[in-house]
Amino acid sequence: MDYQILVNKSHPYREEMGKMRKLIVVKNAKKEKFQIEKETYRAYKRLQKDVKKEGIMIELIAAYRTKEMQSYLYQNYEKIYGKSFSQKYVAPSGFSEHHTGLAIDIGLVVDGVLYENNEDLFTYLSLLKHIETKLSQYGFILRYPKGKEQITGYSYEPWHFRYVGNPLATDLFHRGITLEEYSTSLVNKKG
Ligand code: DAL
Ligand code: ZN
Repeated sequence: MDYQILVNKSHPYREEMGKMRKLIVVKNAKKEKFQIEKETYRAYKRLQKDVKKEGIMIELIAAYRTKEMQSYLYQNYEKIYGKSFSQKYVAPSGFSEHHTGLAIDIGLVVDGVLYENNEDLFTYLSLLKHIETKLSQYGFILRYPKGKEQITGYSYEPWHFRYVGNPLATDLFHRGITLEEYSTSLVNKKG
């Protein structure tokens, strides 16, 4: 499995990307079921355990999505928020890195309540920012950082983490660059 694959608005998910992938079925604390790539889940559980020690409870609220699931999500979003807002937060079907099984969205449990929608999560931004500092240790990157909207094509999403493995996650974190910038630099090197 290539953990460095780039999927974005101009790089669609291709079925061959998932050929070597092992998707497993897992449950969150609310007993909701998700499919997720095996190593990504292992890394997520380690991250979850680490932040729990500091009193921060995170739960999986999204992982692998089929094209049908993404399409449904997009249409729902569009109905509620309109097209221009939806384009900033939801990938069109076929162009989401949730299709890879390597992307996760997390929710926060505060006083026993699981917060999972965008507005609620933004009210706990300081917690998410703290988690962000730990991601690279577990092979994750914050995929849609603030200030990189023009590059990633999406608004700041402090809840969407992408597993790329290490040393890449640590390298990207220290250089402060996105997967797009990294991939472009590789293409330029190859000439
Ligand atoms: N929220 C990200 C961009 C997705 O829908 O894949
Ligand atoms: Zn996501």
